[in-house]
Amino acid sequence: MHRGAIALALAGVMALAGCAADPDVEPTQDRSGPATLAPDDQGDDVVDLPTVQDGIDDLRDGLADADEDARSGAEAALDQAQTALDEATPARAARRRRGTSPSAVWRAPSTRSRGRVRTPRTPSAARWTCSADSSGGSPRSSGRRRRDRVRPAGRTTTSLHTGVSMTHAPHEHVRSLDAARAVAELTLEEKASLLDGSDRWHTEPVDRLGIPAIMLADGPHGLRKQTPEAARTDTRGSYPATCFPPAVALSSSWDADLVHRVGTALADEARAAEVAVLLGPGVNMKRSPLCGRNFEYFSEDPYLTGELAASFVEGVQSRGVGTSLKHFAANNQETDRRYVSAEVDERTLREIYLAAFERVVTRARPWTVMCSYNRINGVYSAENRWLLTEVLREEWGFDGLVMSDWDAVNLREAGVRAGLDLEMPTSSGVGRRRVLDAVAAGTLTEADVDLAASRVLGLVDRCLPALAPGQTVDHDAHHRLAREAATRSAVLLKNDGGLLPLAATGGTVAVVGEFARTPRYQGAGSSLVVPTHVDDALSALRDAFAGSRDVTFAPGFRIESETPDAGLVAEAVEHARAADVVVVFLGLPPSYESEGYDREHMHLPAAQLTLLDALAEANPDVVVVLSNGSAVLVDPWQDRARALVEGWLLGQAGGGALADLLTGAADPSGRLSETLPLRYHDTPSFGAFPGEHGTVRYGEGLLIGYRWYDTRRLDVAYPFGHGLSYTTFAYTHLTTTVHDAGADTVVSVSLDVTNTGGRAGRDVVQVYVHDPESTVMRPDQELKGFAPVLLEPGETRTVTLALDARAFSWWHVGLGRWVLEGGAFELRVGRSSRDILLSAVVELTGERIDEPLSPDVPLSIWLDHPVAGPRLRERMTAGGHYDDHRIRRMRENPVARVARMPGFPVAEEDLGGFARELTADVPDTSTGS
Ligand code: BGC
Repeated sequence: MHRGAIALALAGVMALAGCAADPDVEPTQDRSGPATLAPDDQGDDVVDLPTVQDGIDDLRDGLADADEDARSGAEAALDQAQTALDEATPARAARRRRGTSPSAVWRAPSTRSRGRVRTPRTPSAARWTCSADSSGGSPRSSGRRRRDRVRPAGRTTTSLHTGVSMTHAPHEHVRSLDAARAVAELTLEEKASLLDGSDRWHTEPVDRLGIPAIMLADGPHGLRKQTPEAARTDTRGSYPATCFPPAVALSSSWDADLVHRVGTALADEARAAEVAVLLGPGVNMKRSPLCGRNFEYFSEDPYLTGELAASFVEGVQSRGVGTSLKHFAANNQETDRRYVSAEVDERTLREIYLAAFERVVTRARPWTVMCSYNRINGVYSAENRWLLTEVLREEWGFDGLVMSDWDAVNLREAGVRAGLDLEMPTSSGVGRRRVLDAVAAGTLTEADVDLAASRVLGLVDRCLPALAPGQTVDHDAHHRLAREAATRSAVLLKNDGGLLPLAATGGTVAVVGEFARTPRYQGAGSSLVVPTHVDDALSALRDAFAGSRDVTFAPGFRIESETPDAGLVAEAVEHARAADVVVVFLGLPPSYESEGYDREHMHLPAAQLTLLDALAEANPDVVVVLSNGSAVLVDPWQDRARALVEGWLLGQAGGGALADLLTGAADPSGRLSETLPLRYHDTPSFGAFPGEHGTVRYGEGLLIGYRWYDTRRLDVAYPFGHGLSYTTFAYTHLTTTVHDAGADTVVSVSLDVTNTGGRAGRDVVQVYVHDPESTVMRPDQELKGFAPVLLEPGETRTVTLALDARAFSWWHVGLGRWVLEGGAFELRVGRSSRDILLSAVVELTGERIDEPLSPDVPLSIWLDHPVAGPRLRERMTAGGHYDDHRIRRMRENPVARVARMPGFPVAEEDLGGFARELTADVPDTSTGS
C-alpha cells in the first residue's frame, strides 16, 4: 500500500541528487544495513526506507553551500519527498518528529580515515548509481536514468559476495558517531534493542537516528560470511574467501610478523565484504589434546598464544576492522561446552587460562571480546561480573564491547549487570524484553543499559570508516600469502639419514594416501571457510618435479574408514615397491575432530596404520606427512617412517607448501606449539577431562602441556618447540643484563645464532625461565621469549630479547596481584623445551612476600617471617615451655589456638598488638612491598 508514496519520495530525492534508482540491480540481500522495512511498514515492499531517509538527510546537509535560488527550490522538493515518506510510514514519522534529526548524533567531519571518504550511509545505499558532480550533471536536472554518464566519479565493482555490480559514489567526508549524544537521544526501548543482535550476524540499527547495523562474521583463519540463504537456515554456505592456515598450524610458525600479515589480509577480505568485525582469534589453551576444537587454538602455552594472537589483532585492526577475542574464558573442551563448569583455582586461571587474553587485551586492544559458553567455578561467563568487568575492564583496561558467544546467554539482565553488552545472535526480542522488565522492576538501572548501548554505538563508530562499499581483494596475492604461511607452519619432526628433501632428479616417487589428492586443510564448525581455490599436494609435487621424476599415486585408504581395504593396500604396495621413495599422506578424518564435540582418542584410523605397515615392508624409505588439527600419537608407528612431517591443517594453499618443503624449495622452519606425548595416559588432564555431571576440575593446575611433562620428567614423543630444518644452527655467546628492579625489571638476553649448514634457514630461539627457589610451586620452566631468525649459510646474527617483570612473576592469590620474588632465576635458551643449548643465571631484586600475621594463620607463617619469626622463637623458648621439637609439632596450629595453651608469650586477645610489636621496624609485611 505504500509503494506509490515511497516511489514518490524516492523520485523526489533521486531527482534532486541527479540519481536514479537502478531497476536492474537487485537489492543487496546480504548487507550490513538496516532492515528493509521499518516495523510499521510490514508488507511486500522492498524499498529501503532508512536509505530514503538517509538520502533526504544527506541532501539537506549538502544544501548548505548552494545558492539561495537553488536552495529554496531544492528544499521545497525535499519537503515534498519527506512528506511522502512520512505519509507512507506514519510510525517512523512519529518517531522522527519525537526524536532528533539524525545529524544530531554525528560528529563533525573527520579526517580519521586517512584520505578515505564516506558517510555513515548504510551499505545498501550502494544499489543506487549516483551522479557525483564530476560527471557533469546538474543536481537539479530531471530524475531520468543516467547510468550512462554517472560512472566516472564512482567505482564499479563486482562483488564476490553478492555477485552484484555496484557503482558507488565517492563521499565527501567521514562522519563519526557521537555515542554519548546518541545514547542521550535514544528511548529506553531503543537502547534495549541495541543490546541484541538484529539477526544472526548484524547489530541492530536505529533508523530514526541514521545509525546503521554492522556485520560480524567468523572467523579466525578466513572470512565466513554466510550467504543469506545459509544464514536463514543456519547451514554451511558462505561466500568464497581465502582459507589461511588455522591457528593450530599458524602458531607453529612462531612468527608474529607473519601472523600480522595474515591478519591484515583477513581484514581486507572483511572490508571487501563489508564485514565490520571478524570473530577471532580464539586463544583458549589446549588443555587436552582431545579438545575437538584445538585446531582453532594456538597453543598449550599462554605466552606464545598471547604474542601471536596480539599480532593477529593488531594486523586486522590496523585495517580498520574489529576483532573478537574469544572464548573468554576457560572454554577448553567441547563436551558440555554450553553449561559445563570449569572448576579452576585462581592462580591457574591467572597464569594459564586468562594470561593470553590479558596479553592480547593489554597489548593489542581488541575492539570486542566474546564471552564463552561455559561456567567458571559455577558462574556462566555471560553473567560473570568478576570476569567481564572487574578483571577485563577494571584490571586490564579493556575499553571495547563484550558480546556473547552465539546463544550463550542464560539470563540477559544478569549479563547486562555483569558487563555483557551485546547478545548474539538475535534473541528475537526475548533479551530486550527481559532488560526492559528488569529496569521496570528496579533490578537493572537505565544507566546499566546506557553503558552497554554506548559500547554498541562505540563499536559502530569504530567500524564505520572501513566500511566503504566497493573495496576489492586480490585473491591471488592472498593465496600466495596463504602458501607462504603454510610453508612456515609445517613441522619437520624427524628426518633420519637426511631422506628429505627429495632430490630434484632420480627414481620414481610413490605418493600414497587419499589426503594427497583430497587435502584436509581446515576443521569443521563455525570457522569453516569456503576457499577461493585449493591446492593438493599430489598435483603440486607433479608440478614441482615437472617430469624430472616420475610421481605415481595410490589412495591406499578411504578417508572416513577405519577398516583396511585390501585392494587399496595391495595397489599402494605395488607402487611402493616400484619406487625409490614413498611419501604417504596420513591424517585424521574430518569426522574425528570438530567444533561441538571432543575426540575420543589420539590414534590415526587403523586402516591407515595397516597401510603404513605394508608400505614400510615394501620400501624402507618412507616419508609420512600428517594432516590433523590436533596432536596424534606417533610413537606406535613412527619407526616405520624415516621422515615425518607434521602438516597440521595448512589452509587452502597447503598442498603447494608441502611440495615446497618436501622438495626443498623451502626450508622447514615450523616448531611445535604443543607437545606430542607418547601416550594419552601421560597427558596432564588424563582422568580429569572432560569431567562429569556438568563439572570439570582442572586438577593439574598450572601444569598443562610441557609444564607438566617437563616438571614431571616424563618422556615425550616430540617436545614443545621442536622442529628440524634442512640446515643446522649453533648458539653461542649468551649474555644477560638486568635493568631496574621489582615491577620495572627488564632482563635483556643476547646470543649469537649461526647457520652452520649449507643452505639458508630459519630457526626459532626460545627462552625459558626456571625459578630454582620460590615460596610457591612453580612449573619447572616456562616460555618467556622467542624470536625467529633467518640466516644465510655461514651467517651469524645476534638475537636480543627482553624479558619484563611478568616473565618472572607469579599470581599471589592472597594479595590478589602479581609478585616477583627476588633471587636467582635461570634463563634457559634453546631450540625446544628439551633442547636447551645455553643457560645463565640472573639475580633479580624483587619483593619479599610476607604473609600477614593474623591470629588465624598457622604458627608456621609467623615463625617463617624473616623478622618476626626469630623474635617469636626467642620469646617462646625463653619461658621454658617450648623447645625446637615442640615448636615443630605446633607449627600447623592456628596461632590463636596455640596462644590458648600454657607457656605462649601472649594471650589470644593480645595477638594483634603482639604481631605489630614483632614487626615494628619492618616496612610493610602484609603487602610484600
Ligand atoms: C562459536 C564461535 C563463533 C560463533 C559464530 C559459536 O558457536 O563458538 O566461535 O564465532 O559460533 O559462528
